[in-house]
Amino acid sequence: MLTMQHVSKLYRKGDQEIKAIDSISLDIPSGDFVSIIGPSGSGKSSLLLMLGGMLSPTSGKVYLDFTSLYEMSQNEIAKLRQKKIGFVFQTFNLIPYLTAIQNVQLPLLLSGASEKEQEEKAHYLLERVKLSDRKQHKPSELSVGQQQRIALARMLANEPSIILADEPTGNLDPEMAQMVMDFLSDLNAEGKTIVMVTHDMQMAKRAKRSISIDHGKIR
Ligand SMILES: Nc1ncnc2c1ncn2[C@@H]1O[C@H](COP(=O)(O)OP(=O)(O)OP(=O)(O)O)[C@@H](O)[C@H]1O
Ligand SMILES: [Mg+2]
Repeated sequence: MLTMQHVSKLYRKGDQEIKAIDSISLDIPSGDFVSIIGPSGSGKSSLLLMLGGMLSPTSGKVYLDFTSLYEMSQNEIAKLRQKKIGFVFQTFNLIPYLTAIQNVQLPLLLSGASEKEQEEKAHYLLERVKLSDRKQHKPSELSVGQQQRIALARMLANEPSIILADEPTGNLDPEMAQMVMDFLSDLNAEGKTIVMVTHDMQMAKRAKRSISIDHGKIR
């Protein structure tokens, strides 16, 4: 369960102030699948980052399972995020000098899993995204769609209950985009909560509901 109460985000750059999010309140119950749609610069990524404990609001509160996120220390937020949230970025953020399997193992390493656990889980996850035959490849040796699937596998490593995806299909051709959407739908059917930012109405329609934002407000 994710809740936002009167959340605003003001960015300051020199003497310029940008109100990226303007008093948004929303509730995302467990098991929901929400798409967030809106024009470039409307505040979608800022909203997602604040939901995920990665960007503190200027005012208002964000609750993750009834815990007020930004009233905790950075360290506590990071721990909670690691346990409950999986993030998918438009640019994948894979580590270039690690192989596919090492990228997937990394979150498991960070959460203290044994080497055996890390390997077994990473194998399983790479199978799930149908990339068992690319384990030893570096990101630069993989296609864009394959890189996105590695990123999805890595995101699932710590079994998050909530998945936040920022334009997960933005860089993909239509066929790969469908595959990623099918994958997200499957994860939702398994009970995971999904919040997905997209420009694409067709993709947005695959969610259970859609929230449209413009100039930092819900329309
Ligand atoms: N770190 C920052 N510093 C200053 N302004 C920022 C910063 N990040 C975002 N902004 C501004 O806040 C507004 C909302 O940005 P945001 O990235 O949330 O939009 P978006 O809806 O995700 O856009 P896009 O679809 O292009 O990704 C924009 O006007 C942007 O210029
Ligand atoms: Mg964005």
